[in-house]
Amino acid sequence: MTEFLTTTISVLDIDADVIIAGYFSDQQTPYAAAISEGTDDFVGNLMNNGDFDANANEVLTLPYPTGLKANRLVLVGLGESKDYSPLIAMRAAGSAAKTLASKKLDHVAFFFPEENLTDAISGIVVACQGQDILRSEVKINAFEKVSVASENDADVREGHIVGRAINACRNLVNQPPNILYPETLAESAVEIGESAGFDVEVWDEVRLASEECRTLLAVAQGSDRPPRMLTMKYNGADETSPTLGLVGKGVTFDSGGYSLKPSDGMFDMKCDMGGAATVIGAMQAIAELKLPVNVIGYCGLVENLVSGNAFKLGDVIHSRNGKTVEIHNTDAEGRLVLADVLDVAVKNGVDHVVDFATLTGACLVALGLDCAGLFTNDQDLCDQFKSAADEVGEDSWQMPMTPNFGEQIKSNVADIKNMGSGRWGGAITAAKFLEEFVADTPWLHVDIAGPAWSDNAKKWIDGGGQGCFVRTLVKLAKQYGK
Ligand code: BES
Ligand code: MN
Ligand code: ZN
Repeated sequence: MTEFLTTTISVLDIDADVIIAGYFSDQQTPYAAAISEGTDDFVGNLMNNGDFDANANEVLTLPYPTGLKANRLVLVGLGESKDYSPLIAMRAAGSAAKTLASKKLDHVAFFFPEENLTDAISGIVVACQGQDILRSEVKINAFEKVSVASENDADVREGHIVGRAINACRNLVNQPPNILYPETLAESAVEIGESAGFDVEVWDEVRLASEECRTLLAVAQGSDRPPRMLTMKYNGADETSPTLGLVGKGVTFDSGGYSLKPSDGMFDMKCDMGGAATVIGAMQAIAELKLPVNVIGYCGLVENLVSGNAFKLGDVIHSRNGKTVEIHNTDAEGRLVLADVLDVAVKNGVDHVVDFATLTGACLVALGLDCAGLFTNDQDLCDQFKSAADEVGEDSWQMPMTPNFGEQIKSNVADIKNMGSGRWGGAITAAKFLEEFVADTPWLHVDIAGPAWSDNAKKWIDGGGQGCFVRTLVKLAKQYGK
């Protein structure tokens, strides 16, 4: 694990393998001025000659800079100072760090603006962790030590905690499904809870049956691996404060069941526990930061497979909250898992509930690869979440929840069916299904089928699990109940 230390040593005197320095295109920072003085304005000349424009995420490496003690100076653009934001800070720091991470470096010195420093530090931590967790020799390495030119220890510490929580989320998503399945995911959550400081209760298949979680069990019954449900409790505030409930879809592998997915669509389906990973990652960050808030996380963990015992099309399942559900497609399994978990959450009396799920391909069609769909029965809760997400720069967009969509999930045999009539509006009919299980509790559903995962690496983060909405949840938890 990288050690982050603040330092007051000047950019000219610091003895490091590499200096990373963030540059605005239109304004000098104190350290940029110092670099100019000590190097005959080398960087100024580069900028005047158009060799470095300091556009956001532009990275330029200068070896053996005369006038500096360090062996290399990595310039990274921050764009125009008026546009500087948490997202730009995170990506710029990440872009610089990721270009360096191919080598094992002992000591990196980091010179960035004080503004958004937390996000920049998180950006370094995230950029230096790859998805190649099972490669004999990893190609993305974390730095041993980072000296951060700042006196703000608290911001640096927070950035490190949040970055590690994002990586914890990504790591869970990136684990292959033969290694990470309901029992082992539950074990990981217990370990994370012990080290971060929150309680984890695990329901096994026997307890799930006695708790009448029959729609969750229906999905699980095709697998030899038994299901689990997690309840993770963090009490940072007194009993009179409201409790934020977080719910996560934890399908550790989604084959589609008898409505089998084609190979191409199945390959990435280890990511189908991305909602649970977001909830676990957020719990880790919130507990390590000791935020003054009460949060309970609930995750339903199952594997959706085919076998002689798997659930079938036409089956009718009696859900935990009493509604009967006719199965029209075994690949619409996430909503069945969430139905029971949401019921547990709302019956336990959480004041608000936000669920995260890689729920529908339709959400990808509607909003693309990087934007989450928001669906709610409570505009205030949705607005709170959306503004937290906007502040940290995570894309989301609210979708309609008008009664017409609810008509589509009526069944001829049971109370409801587990898909709409045809594929149109599939993300919304899925949300309408979930709404049946939250009673009057203010609820927000976040469909993260796009942002949970990326097939391709970006300049500031490797491909695979993206750790989405951990930062938003930290922001939301800070504001919650205020
Ligand atoms: N896990 C998938 C959704 C998904 C697709 C997530 C692509 C990430 C990337 C979900 O369980 C699913 O299969 N949904 C079906 C529902 C349909 C059968 C009503 C879908 O979206 O096709
Ligand atoms: Mn599915
Ligand atoms: Zn799924």
